[in-house]
Amino acid sequence: MDRREFVENCALGAGTLAATLASPAWAVDARPRTYGRVQLLDEVGRPLKASDLKPQTNYVFHYPFEATPVFLLDLGKPATPTTLVTRDKLSYQWPGGVGPRRSLVAFSAICAHKLVYPTKDLSFISFRKGAAVNPQTPSKGNDLIHCCADHSQYDPARGAQVLNGPAEQPLCAVLIEHDGKTDGLTAVGTLGGELFDDFFKKYEMKLSLESGPNARQTVARQSTVRELDRFCRNPVRC
Ligand code: FES
Repeated sequence: MDRREFVENCALGAGTLAATLASPAWAVDARPRTYGRVQLLDEVGRPLKASDLKPQTNYVFHYPFEATPVFLLDLGKPATPTTLVTRDKLSYQWPGGVGPRRSLVAFSAICAHKLVYPTKDLSFISFRKGAAVNPQTPSKGNDLIHCCADHSQYDPARGAQVLNGPAEQPLCAVLIEHDGKTDGLTAVGTLGGELFDDFFKKYEMKLSLESGPNARQTVARQSTVRELDRFCRNPVRC
């Protein structure tokens, strides 16, 4: 059994996610993949509370691997389930936002076009409140995730569906759970078109310099959430 089969079987096996899988709301082709349950922390190491998040602000944490960044957003409005398709023509139903207002969403921050991603030094991909400012690529809406490398635009309120540009599939969704009692957040898996193999292949050397030998190690237990503007010195806007 290879790792992919193992985690997919895990997804069918136990826990909250499995309970969710039993729901007909999940679709059919692209199944969610479980990784470790990872509690999200704030910058000083306390459990992050959903109510601590500023609406329409771009946060970053790393999951499921030490070197794979994720965008966390409170959209400030409910995000409803959306049916999407990967570049391999596998359909899936993104379950929408979580939290009291169903406004909390998370997506892999690796662009589905050429795998641009945010680093501590530079980010060409980010969430932008309001419309894009680049006149060459008018925004197809407000409050989108923009990749300034080739101007793909993704709608985080619709499962990071592609609205514009060359990306061939939505950003891979990261599944998060909200605890109504503690207001805490836990990352539990992914859904959609993962690009992690391509990502590690393309950036092997760069990642080993940025993240050391643990770049491909799965995140264990906890991951720190930071605002993109605090995580990255030069977030590029377009
Ligand atoms: S790498 Fe993001 S649009 Fe090309």
